[in-house]
Amino acid sequence: MEEITFVLIFVLQSLIVKSNAFLQYEVRVKENDEITLRCVEKRTGSRAIQWLKGSLILTTNNKVHKHNSHLLVDKPSPEEWNLLVSRITKSFTDVYTCRVKQGEILSNVTLIVETGPRIDVSVSTPEQTYFTEHSHAILKCKVSGEPPPKITWKRGTSETEIGITGESLRIPHIERYATDVYICYVNNTHGDVKRRMMVNVTFGPEVTVMNSTLHSSAGEEVFLVCRIQAYPLLDAYWTNNTNEIVKDSWKYTLHKEKEDNIPVTYLIMTIKPSISSINDTGIYTCFGVGENNLKNATVKLSIS
Ligand SMILES: *[C@@H]1O[C@H](CO)[C@@H](O)[C@H](O)[C@H]1NC(C)=O
Ligand SMILES: *[C@@H]1O[C@H](CO)[C@@H](O)[C@H](O)[C@H]1NC(C)=O
Ligand SMILES: *[C@@H]1O[C@H](CO)[C@@H](O)[C@H](O)[C@H]1NC(C)=O
Ligand SMILES: *[C@@H]1O[C@H](CO)[C@@H](O)[C@H](O)[C@H]1NC(C)=O
Ligand SMILES: *[C@@H]1O[C@H](CO)[C@@H](O)[C@H](O)[C@H]1NC(C)=O
Ligand SMILES: *[C@@H]1O[C@H](CO)[C@@H](O)[C@H](O)[C@H]1NC(C)=O
Ligand SMILES: *[C@@H]1O[C@H](CO)[C@@H](O)[C@H](O)[C@H]1NC(C)=O
Repeated sequence: MEEITFVLIFVLQSLIVKSNAFLQYEVRVKENDEITLRCVEKRTGSRAIQWLKGSLILTTNNKVHKHNSHLLVDKPSPEEWNLLVSRITKSFTDVYTCRVKQGEILSNVTLIVETGPRIDVSVSTPEQTYFTEHSHAILKCKVSGEPPPKITWKRGTSETEIGITGESLRIPHIERYATDVYICYVNNTHGDVKRRMMVNVTFGPEVTVMNSTLHSSAGEEVFLVCRIQAYPLLDAYWTNNTNEIVKDSWKYTLHKEKEDNIPVTYLIMTIKPSISSINDTGIYTCFGVGENNLKNATVKLSIS
């Protein structure tokens, strides 16, 4: 009795093993390529053979029910029921099973379609963004691709790597000097793409003068130098000792200099040589106009 039970269990086990011994594998294929998924029916006969994508029935014997322009049942021998999948798109990533209709599974293939990296622009940081100085800035690059792509952040026109990887670049307490172009560089084994994001840090005007008191002799050329920092800077000007806005004229020259990369402007006002007189003694004021406020700095000029 014990022997019989043992034999029975053995037979049952081998049956289970046998019924489990279908073809099972994973295959990777590049978008637009083609691939043959293998299926072998050893007991060739009158049984109908089907291919399924997930739970969707694709084929029955030689007949293709779905994706007709991509699928073909390939029979190099009577036992084989291979599925030829061509012009593959991303949506073909799935589990494919070949089975006897309503019966045993013959093969189970996981198909992974590999694609080059893509950036989903609609959920990534726009190409131009503004952050208020000292706020918490986050730049995002949402990507897709198979194998999952790597994201590397770079900065500036020279595209220097900044040592940050992953979909978010965080800049806590962002400062004005962080104003620059940032690049999210995305790659996998099938290629690379990138997105440039211009980041401008906004802050109110800060105005300083080089010399807040100046002494000069009549007839000497006088230079008043003002340094204005602001982003955005809407306007910058000098007023003279009669509180009028200084313009280029027979008497004055105005010269503006900007620095690259940092939002600094120098506004230099000159009283031309052999023009200045004691009547030019007084307070000169330099103004910087920002989006929400106005700042100034003064020079006390005395001419003797
Ligand atoms: C087929 O393969 C997939 C992925 O490996 C698995 O999840 C699924 O259970 C398998 N199906 C069968 C019947 O073994
Ligand atoms: C992706 O780019 C990074 C950074 O430039 C590089 O280190 C890596 O080797 C690249 N990976 C592939 C798969 O090309
Ligand atoms: C302006 O100030 C600088 C230093 O702050 C000084 O070296 C220079 O002599 C001053 N210029 C005049 C005209 O007073
Ligand atoms: C102040 O500037 C205005 C405009 O440039 C000019 O008309 C005026 O004469 C200036 N004042 C003096 C005292 O030079
Ligand atoms: C943002 O800042 C950069 C660098 O200073 C500058 O070149 C660019 O014009 C600014 N963008 C805008 C929209 O002002
Ligand atoms: C200064 O102003 C006074 C009064 O307007 C004028 O009489 C005088 O000629 C001026 N001096 C110079 C050097 O321009
Ligand atoms: C210059 O700024 C000061 C505050 O810093 C302000 O009190 C003054 O009125 C301003 N001057 C002018 C002419 O706007």
